[in-house]
Amino acid sequence: MTSAPGNAVAERYDLRVPRYTSYPTAPHFSDAVDEATYRDWLGSLDAGQELSLYFHIPFCDSMCWFCACYTKIVQRYEPIHDYLGVLHREIDLVADALPARLCARHLHWGGGSPTLLTPEDWLSLIGALRRRFDVADDAEIAIELDPRDTTAEYVAALATAGVNRVSIGVQDFDSDVQAAINRIQPFEVVERVRSWLRRHGIDRVNLDLMYGLPRQTTAHVLDMVDKAVSLDPARLALFGYAHVPWMKSHQRMIDEAELPDASARLEQLLAASERLQQHGYHAIGLDHFARPDDELSLALEQGRLHRNFQGYTTDEARVLLGFGASAIGQLPQGYAQNLSPLRDYRRHVEEGRLPIARGFRLSPDDRLRAEVIERLMCDLGVDLKVVCDRYDRSVAELTSSIDALASLVDDGVVHVDDGHISISERGRPFVRLVAAAFDTYLATGQKRHSRAV
Ligand SMILES: C[S@@+](CC[C@H](N)C(=O)[O-])C[C@H]1O[C@@H](n2cnc3c(N)ncnc32)[C@H](O)[C@@H]1O
Repeated sequence: MTSAPGNAVAERYDLRVPRYTSYPTAPHFSDAVDEATYRDWLGSLDAGQELSLYFHIPFCDSMCWFCACYTKIVQRYEPIHDYLGVLHREIDLVADALPARLCARHLHWGGGSPTLLTPEDWLSLIGALRRRFDVADDAEIAIELDPRDTTAEYVAALATAGVNRVSIGVQDFDSDVQAAINRIQPFEVVERVRSWLRRHGIDRVNLDLMYGLPRQTTAHVLDMVDKAVSLDPARLALFGYAHVPWMKSHQRMIDEAELPDASARLEQLLAASERLQQHGYHAIGLDHFARPDDELSLALEQGRLHRNFQGYTTDEARVLLGFGASAIGQLPQGYAQNLSPLRDYRRHVEEGRLPIARGFRLSPDDRLRAEVIERLMCDLGVDLKVVCDRYDRSVAELTSSIDALASLVDDGVVHVDDGHISISERGRPFVRLVAAAFDTYLATGQKRHSRAV
């Protein structure tokens, strides 16, 4: 080892690599997976298969300049109401294509801002879903909340619908940083939502925080962490701001001169991470923190942590069905993504077609590499022999990937010993780079990604 991982490494590895919420990642999906493929995949699911369901609500009432999610700004409710009608119809189309009435264990509403739905529409959507799917009594029912749109009435509706986990979008509490990202949201707004959730017994609360934002300093980030912890969340996500203006043109509103550089980002990440651990949270994978008694911490300890399109999860159902424009599903055969343009999504559903735009059919080699990458992203280590045995392959077939780790080994990011790969604690921020060594599509894909740290 020539040096401990630190700022020099951050600058040297100022590479752009995926976050690996899937392997292969979404930019490699193609139209080789279409409606017929998806219908076939749905029809071949086991009648006892447990499901995760994801619903995408692609609307917000104002644009946050940092946002990398698929959303559309609306000032009227009508487009949202119309969209919900289409979503109801899509639920029927998908349920009709399944071999039996299946049971969901995890439900997740993301966006955009699901909080823009009226409580009545929200309850009617849950009703439509329950008409076509069973929902396990102990199912995790989760939703992303924009605290600026959330009312006491809305939280009451969530409780009535059985919601038991919420993620509150915070980003940063500092007003100057908030001005630079067009998201004015005083601490008191989040605190108020937290108290409504407590009153209604929704105690599984995640907060989404970010570092690497314009005007953010390490002092801001530490203050943000302390304020976030005072709200007593079970989990926190600490996302590095992904600046991808070539994909998200509104990010051009952010002054690049105000963005922290690679070493400042790393300093922010390390400072926040240390402070969170001082507050008693466990570090989970790339960007999550959880209380020791939270299911995410327990899953990590027991080797049951997973990663899917929503990030880190305890979800063990290996089938995820995505509903709504741009939503991505994962089935035993591969991935399928819905059409993103709202008009196209709507037209397909109204014509009675499953609105699939593209996807990816997994080869045996993809499955092996997907598992290696998932273990690295979750456990910061993997025993290649154990994984290769499961796929009837030999570790020798991964030699070029192992060799690609050489400079990360020299830098003390990762240790390789007889097929055991382990990322050092100080190498944690670079886990995406270790995973990327096993990605055979990265070099050929010529896709641009956000910074690795
Ligand atoms: C899918 S968004 C929806 C949250 C909700 N609309 C809100 O604003 O509160 C979920 C989270 O993704 C994170 N996020 C969005 N854009 C990002 C970016 N460019 N880089 C890193 N994280 C991002 C933010 O922390 C955000 O809270």
